[in-house]
Amino acid sequence: MFSLLVLISLFTFAKAAVPRATDCVGTISSLSDVSAAVQCTTVNINSFTVPARQTFRLDLLQGTTVNVLGEILFGNTSWKGPLFQVTGQDIEFKGNGHSFDGGGGYYWDGLGGKGSTKPCPMMRIDMSGTFSDVHVINCPERCFAINNPAPLVINGAVVDNSQGDYPNDKSNGRPAGHNTDGFDVSGNDVVIRNSAVLNQDDCLAINKGKNILFQNNYCHGGHGVSIGSISSNTVVENVSILDNKVVNSVTAFRIKTDKTATNSRVSNVTYSDNTATNCSSYGVLIDQSYPATEGTPGNGVIISDISFNQGATELSVVQDAQMAAVNCGKDSCTGTWDWSSLKTSGGKIGKIQNTPTIIGYTTNPY
Ligand SMILES: *[C@@H]1O[C@H](CO)[C@@H](O)[C@H](O)[C@H]1NC(C)=O
Ligand SMILES: *[C@@H]1O[C@H](CO)[C@@H](O)[C@H](O)[C@H]1NC(C)=O
Ligand SMILES: *[C@@H]1O[C@H](CO)[C@@H](O)[C@H](O)[C@H]1NC(C)=O
Ligand SMILES: *[C@@H]1O[C@H](CO)[C@@H](O)[C@H](O)[C@H]1NC(C)=O
Repeated sequence: MFSLLVLISLFTFAKAAVPRATDCVGTISSLSDVSAAVQCTTVNINSFTVPARQTFRLDLLQGTTVNVLGEILFGNTSWKGPLFQVTGQDIEFKGNGHSFDGGGGYYWDGLGGKGSTKPCPMMRIDMSGTFSDVHVINCPERCFAINNPAPLVINGAVVDNSQGDYPNDKSNGRPAGHNTDGFDVSGNDVVIRNSAVLNQDDCLAINKGKNILFQNNYCHGGHGVSIGSISSNTVVENVSILDNKVVNSVTAFRIKTDKTATNSRVSNVTYSDNTATNCSSYGVLIDQSYPATEGTPGNGVIISDISFNQGATELSVVQDAQMAAVNCGKDSCTGTWDWSSLKTSGGKIGKIQNTPTIIGYTTNPY
């Protein structure tokens, strides 16, 4: 009896004295280290190559800090991906400027999703917390897909797919990279700031979500900052696009909704203090005829309260491009559209139809 009591008290003492088992540092230097490392709330990632046809998947404990300490490569093979996936709540993910290299040159054929099977998306971000200073290079197809369970801040990310601007031996003279979206967002309470995207498709594409802030980012060479395409039963609300630079892109700012979509809305989108230069097709394009461009619009998506009304947004487009075009369906564009801080120059006056009165925008080049 005595010894049993001693044993019990020793056991209780031991339990109280040791730190929580998760207060450890897990280290990942190969995929086989992952399952043990994610039992710890600090996870260090060294440089390694993820074997082809496997996802580097981190399913983290709440409150984990991740430190990336070296470059991550992925084996090349045609498969559907994703290459990387992180899940967890209140995560602090620190990239420290290290890169995740998707090996795009192996896959690119100028056809994106219509060509050979490519790992897509490359980086699936299903966490909340902060995700900072990660460089992603050479995405085979789409780069970041964001579907966060609670508030997420992405800071200092770089997506560099600029090598995909050039043709390769599979792309028939076209740019080899295609459908290489920078950030695809489907989540609420997302901030993306101080980031850069050099690519061949949307810099940002908001597919659904509320309370989204895109601030102080640089977009080069792609399709610009987009909302959509919006399909049925989808809400996008309260989006702020602030202090961004969009350079050499097809369009600077676009909202596109599917012609056949129903029961959806896009509301409260504010653009302030942005600049865009050398847009090749449009400065601003709001179009309800997707997949056509300026085709016959549908009206099953309500677009309301689209503003360029705080700090000046200045757009310049090439000579044959349109500065701003809006193709709304009957009665589906509503609310207050105050564009008094939008200045456009360089190209043609676009067609604007079925909108409420647009306040303050003069189509004359300044
Ligand atoms: C995959 O191929 C690309 C393009 O050739 C190359 O840059 C990358 O290093 C390759 N990845 C690995 C792990 O070998
Ligand atoms: C709109 O989103 C911003 C983040 O950009 C947030 O701070 C603000 O509270 C949101 N407004 C409403 C009414 O939810
Ligand atoms: C949308 O904008 C209107 C008008 O500016 C404002 O009254 C409303 O609070 C906003 N709602 C959200 C959810 O941001
Ligand atoms: C304008 O953008 C196009 C790509 O759309 C690019 O080829 C061209 O070099 C750019 N011009 C300048 C002056 O940067």
